[in-house]
Amino acid sequence: MCGIVGYIGEKKCAPIILEGLKRLEYRGYDSAGISFLNGNSSGVVKSVGKVSMLEEKLENQSLDYSIGIGHTRWATHGVPNEVNAHPHFNTDKSIYVIHNGIIENYQPIRKRLKAEGVEFVSDTDSEVLPHLIDGFIKKGMSLFEAVRYSLNEVQGTYGVAVISINEPDKIIVAKKGSPLVLGLGVGETFIASDVNALIAHTSRIVYFEDNEIAEVYKDRFYAKTITDEKIEKEIIEVKMALDEIDKGGYDHFMIKEIMEQPESIFNSMRGRLLLGEGTARLGGLDGFVERLCDSKRIILSACGTSWHACLVGEYMLEQFAEIPTEVEYASELRYRNPIINPDDTFIFISQSGETADSLAAMEEAKRRGALVLGICNVVGSSIARKSDAGVYTHAGPEIGVASTKAFTSQLVVLALITLLIARRRKVSLVDGMNIIQEMKKIPQKVEKILKLNDQIEKIAENFVDAKNFLYLGRGYNFPVALEGALKLKEISYIHAEGYPAAEMKHGPIALIDENMPAIFIAPKDSVYDKVISNIEEVKARNGKVIAIASEQDDKIDDLVDYVIKVPDTIRMLMPILTSIPLQLLAYHIAVKKGLNVDQPRNLAKSVTVE
Ligand code: M6R
Repeated sequence: MCGIVGYIGEKKCAPIILEGLKRLEYRGYDSAGISFLNGNSSGVVKSVGKVSMLEEKLENQSLDYSIGIGHTRWATHGVPNEVNAHPHFNTDKSIYVIHNGIIENYQPIRKRLKAEGVEFVSDTDSEVLPHLIDGFIKKGMSLFEAVRYSLNEVQGTYGVAVISINEPDKIIVAKKGSPLVLGLGVGETFIASDVNALIAHTSRIVYFEDNEIAEVYKDRFYAKTITDEKIEKEIIEVKMALDEIDKGGYDHFMIKEIMEQPESIFNSMRGRLLLGEGTARLGGLDGFVERLCDSKRIILSACGTSWHACLVGEYMLEQFAEIPTEVEYASELRYRNPIINPDDTFIFISQSGETADSLAAMEEAKRRGALVLGICNVVGSSIARKSDAGVYTHAGPEIGVASTKAFTSQLVVLALITLLIARRRKVSLVDGMNIIQEMKKIPQKVEKILKLNDQIEKIAENFVDAKNFLYLGRGYNFPVALEGALKLKEISYIHAEGYPAAEMKHGPIALIDENMPAIFIAPKDSVYDKVISNIEEVKARNGKVIAIASEQDDKIDDLVDYVIKVPDTIRMLMPILTSIPLQLLAYHIAVKKGLNVDQPRNLAKSVTVE
C-alpha cells in the first residue's frame, strides 16, 4: 500500500527520502514521487514503477533542498501513471500534498471546486486536498489551520503530509485510519507511514492517533486534534536493529524470513512458558485474563494468512480451552448483523496491525461491548493500540509481502493463549507441562525442516509449468492446506485451492488428472488412514501427489510421487511444522518462474484500504 516519507532538517532531503521509500517498497506500490522546498523554490518529480526509476530521474537535478515529502502510490482511484502519482499540488504549485488512504466524499468536493474554477489534472481522490487547503489559505488561514479545516471536510481515511512554499519551515502531518509516525533526531525530524522507513536515523518515535494533526519543524513539533484540542504526545524509544530489516545475505526477504523461523518462533515464546505451573505468562493480557477465561464465546477474526491462523486457533481453543470458538473474516463482519454480546471475546490477529478491514471489524466489536484483544507483530500498530489488551508475536519485521514467519508466530501465540485459558479451566498440570515440553522442542524441529530446502527446491523444478494445484488436509491441517494454497497463488500466480481432504470427493475430484498436482498434508495423526484413502483416490486418477508426512512414516513413500518428511509433535502444534515445507515450495516455484517473490503483482504488505 502507499508509503509516506518526509524530512525537515539541515541535510539534503532527497537521499534520505529515497532511502526511506525503498525501505517501504515491500508494502507494494506502482509509482512514486517527491517534492522539495528550499526558501521560495520548490520542485516535484514523479515516476511510474520502482523508486530506483525516481532516483534515476533525480540524478541530473540540483537537489539542495532540506525539506521534502516523498510517496509510493498503490493505485485506488485512477491508473498508475505520473499524473496520478503523489505529491499532488494546487493550481499555482505552492502547496504539495501526499496522502495515504481514501477520501470517500471526493466526488462532491471535486464537483464543487470545479464549479469554483479549479482545474484538476489527475483522476485521484487525493488531489482535492491541495485545492481545499489552497481555498482556506486564500481566506487568510495559516497552512496548519487550512489543513485542519480541509480535513474536517473530508470523509474517509488519511495519513497526510503537506508542505507550502509560503511557509517553508514546516511540514503539516495528520492521521485518520492510516498510520503516521514522526522520528525525532537532533535538529532534524523524519516523517513516515511506517517506522521501518526511519529507524536508520533515529529510535525516538512519536505515534499519531486518529484525528490528530501536527505542525512539524526541524527541532520541535506541536500536536492538536483536528477539532482543535491541544494534546501532548509521548516519545517512545523503539528498539529495532537495522539489519533486522535488511536481506542479511539472502536473495529475497521471503527466504530470509522463512529461514529465520527457528529464532522467530523461539522469540514468540521466550519468557512466556512457565514449566513448573504448566501454563503461559502473557503480560499483555494482565487485568483481562479472568474475563477472557469466563467468555461465553471467543471469536477469532482477521484477513488472509492471519485468518488461516484464526482457523488453527479455533481447533486449539475448542480442543483444550473448551470455549465455543468461531472464526470471522474481518472484512465481512460489518456487513451483516453480527450477534455480539458483552461476554464475548474477540481476538483480532494481524501481522501489520494496520489492516483496514480488521480495524473496522474491531471498532464494531468494541461498539457492541465485547472484550477486544489483539495479536499483532508490529509494535505500536493501530490494532495493538486500539485493543483492550493483547499479545505481540515478536517475530521481528516481516518485509516479504507473503507472510511466513509472522504466521508461525501467530500459531505460537494462539497456543500460548490456549494453554493459559485451558489450565485455568480443565487441563491438568501434567497435560499443561506436556504442551510446554512440546512447544520448547519446536524451534529445533523447524531447523530440521529447513534443512530440507534443497530437496524441496528439486521438487519445485517439476511444477514450474503447473497451471493449478490442490492442497488437501484434515483437522488442524485443513487451515494449513488453505495457507499453502494462498502462498502459491500470491507469489507464483498459479491457481491453487485448499480443501478439507474429505471434501475432495464432493466436487474437486472431478479436476484430477495427470496435470493436476495435489499436495496432501498427511502427518501420522488420528485422521491419517482417511487421508491415505484420499491419496489413493487421486493416484487412481493419475494425479501427481506431493505428501507432507511424518518422519517415521515409511508406508507413504511407495504411494506418492514426492514426499517431504517432517518431525512429529502434538496435534495442536503440527501446523507450525507442516506449513514450512509449503512456504519453501511456493518460494522455489515462484523463483524458478522468475517472479518477484517479495513484491508480487497487485499485492500490498499492509492493506490499509477497505
Ligand atoms: O497484516 P495482516 O496480518 O492483518 O494482513 C492480512 C492479510 O492482508 C495478509 O495476511 C495477506 O493475506 C498476506 N499477503 C498473506 O501472505
